[in-house]
Amino acid sequence: MSQQPLPLIRRPRRNRLFPSLRDMVQETWLRPSDFIQPLFVRAGTGDPEPIASMPGQFRWTLDGLLHQAEDLCASGVRGIALFPQVAADLKDTQGSYSSRDEAWPLRVIEAIRREVPDLLVIADVALDPYTSHGHDGILDASGHVDNDQTVHALSRLAVLQAQAGAQIVAPSDMMDGRILAIRKALDSNALSSTGVMAYSAKFASSYYGPFRDAVGSATAAGTCYLDKRTYQLNPANAREALVETMLDEQEGADILMVKPAGLYLDIIARVRQSTLLPLAAYQISGEYAQIHAAAERGWLDLEKARDESLIAIKRAGADIILTYFAGDVAKMLQTKGFR
Ligand code: PBG
Repeated sequence: MSQQPLPLIRRPRRNRLFPSLRDMVQETWLRPSDFIQPLFVRAGTGDPEPIASMPGQFRWTLDGLLHQAEDLCASGVRGIALFPQVAADLKDTQGSYSSRDEAWPLRVIEAIRREVPDLLVIADVALDPYTSHGHDGILDASGHVDNDQTVHALSRLAVLQAQAGAQIVAPSDMMDGRILAIRKALDSNALSSTGVMAYSAKFASSYYGPFRDAVGSATAAGTCYLDKRTYQLNPANAREALVETMLDEQEGADILMVKPAGLYLDIIARVRQSTLLPLAAYQISGEYAQIHAAAERGWLDLEKARDESLIAIKRAGADIILTYFAGDVAKMLQTKGFR
């Protein structure tokens, strides 16, 4: 007995029946220019060192880094975020190597600007690559991270990075008042064109571990689970994240950021509603490692999980995504078109 069709006026599946139609009604797309590739760099020469917990990511020396930068540029990625791995003998409790104008990470910035001029160089303003304890700040006598002393050191570092040619400086430390201090320091050094991308809502996440191995702040601290809860946000707090983004906007940030990304889509969506500024989100090392680990076991499809994780971040409201997948996705987009 043949059944009567249901008396439905609305059948949303009609818009999903053909690939052509699915493309036409797709609301969110990925483009190569959405992405910033974070890159790790070490001093000297030699082969890139693979980072065990981040398959496909390396600590580059300058030669390899330049090739990598050219390659990214050719695949349509517009920016890189540089993170130096500083040798243990250059670290101290104050992170004082960060304030030296002969520091090698500054030479790396200059070289990329010279050799790959179309690529945007985003410098990481933070002390953790430079401190012997792995914290993002200078410790006071009782071992607490001293906010104002740290802000002073960060302002100096930002000026040096901007003078070396970084078009954007990106403070990732979460000290109070650092955006205003950095803005003022840049402006008083004739660097008013240098932009500030603020890591505004950065949470004290357990997913930073692979990154801390990569830059060596874990080795310095003796653990990749270093406790940064006196400055990074409590993962339970959304309103507090909005306070941080509001303050950074008032202090003069050009671009705001939420970090991590995938576990904080609600924060991305709420910040998107509360500001007119461009919003970045950082898909961090642990998010990258998680997808790779599951794919290695055949439990997830690497490319599909990757693309879904990124489109979700975009859909939540991020304009810009920092992700270790940037180069791979941009190459995929070049061959397959927009996703
Ligand atoms: C610290 C910093 C961190 C990351 C970048 N800069 C986190 C931290 O150690 O607290 C993490 C990035 C990632 O996990 O991919 N200045």
